[in-house]
Amino acid sequence: MLRPALLDHVRGLAAENLPAYVYDLRSLREHSRAIRAALPERVELLYAAKANSDPRLLRVLADHVDGFEVASGGELHHVRALFPDTPIAFGGPGKTTAELAQAVQAGVHRLHIESEHELRVLTTVLGDRGADILLRVNLPLSPGPVALAMGGQAGPFGLYPERLDACLAVIAADRRVRLRGLHVHLASGLDAPAHLDLASDVLDWARGWATDRDAELTEVNIGGGMGVDYARPDQRYDWNAFGSGLHRLLAHHPGLTVRIEPGRSVTVYCGWYVTQVLDLKRSHGQAFAVLRGGTHHLRTPATKQHDQPFRIIPADDWPWPWERPRARQEPVTLVGQLCTPKDVLAHRVPVELLRTGDRIAFAMAGAYAWNISHHDFLMHPAPVFHHLDEVPSLPTP
Ligand SMILES: Cc1ncc(COP(=O)(O)O)c(C=O)c1O
Repeated sequence: MLRPALLDHVRGLAAENLPAYVYDLRSLREHSRAIRAALPERVELLYAAKANSDPRLLRVLADHVDGFEVASGGELHHVRALFPDTPIAFGGPGKTTAELAQAVQAGVHRLHIESEHELRVLTTVLGDRGADILLRVNLPLSPGPVALAMGGQAGPFGLYPERLDACLAVIAADRRVRLRGLHVHLASGLDAPAHLDLASDVLDWARGWATDRDAELTEVNIGGGMGVDYARPDQRYDWNAFGSGLHRLLAHHPGLTVRIEPGRSVTVYCGWYVTQVLDLKRSHGQAFAVLRGGTHHLRTPATKQHDQPFRIIPADDWPWPWERPRARQEPVTLVGQLCTPKDVLAHRVPVELLRTGDRIAFAMAGAYAWNISHHDFLMHPAPVFHHLDEVPSLPTP
């Protein structure tokens, strides 16, 4: 929902200051507080910085999460510089030797190891302080129909379970490597009931694995992937159901800490990409609204092949002496300024009235949006970023 204060702010933006990203820090604070409140105490909440690492968002989140998950040396540097003492978990495939050394140097709370080779490289850069690791496993569990599957099938993520014993041998030979448990991020786009079923299977598997090896299992990170529905922005992941389900599950796993690392479901709702209709035309009987900006600022609809949800904000001033181009009670395709037919933000969405000069506020632009976009293509100006809290704040240059 575009709160009245945000709507006023958006209406007040000069056209030459569009497109703009508008972040609603108040809603982010309320949302992250509610997520934390829904989770049992024995569940640690990390925020996956890859979803959106904007410093002002991270500062709001820092009050409500137990730490951050990073997936590169760049993210590690960024998050550590902002929060010198906050726990950081470093995951992701393809870590370089330099990144592993950086993680050790930075004293990350947990290092998620993706392969036997990576583990061996780690042992070559370990200082005296050692490292606390989780082994990331690609379990033979099907996540069902999801947006993205990172496990339960062939893929570059994590270790096949058969390779875990080889890792245990490496760990046994080097006391500086402290194995704390397992990491299993299987998919993105899960709803709470499916997620709980999967979590239950993961925890059972992990316990069986540890019992067979006479090892104590104290931690399992079950990853992120809490689903968001771009077609129904009001239908949010059911954090209360997930939290109480985890509470029930944990009763069967005494002494175990579960960690989660969601990204998208945390920040997606707080971001808006606001722009303006530059032109409205018809082609082969269909209406197209050409917007300032496009998928080089908001790549999400192109990567996920969906219609980005939006709201029309009518702008009544029309400075030109000719008739204002418009679409009325018909489907309109919203495109950007790029010279490619792929620059589509929403495809044939019915509108009541849309006119050249009206503003469009795209919702759900707070995760995997600006930071995954190909900004430099065609060299259009970058959007201006606004961070609104209780009181309107000035744009960040
Ligand atoms: C290992 C890992 N953890 C957490 C996440 C965050 O997932 P999401 O943003 O879907 O919650 C990802 C996303 O790719 C991931 O690969």
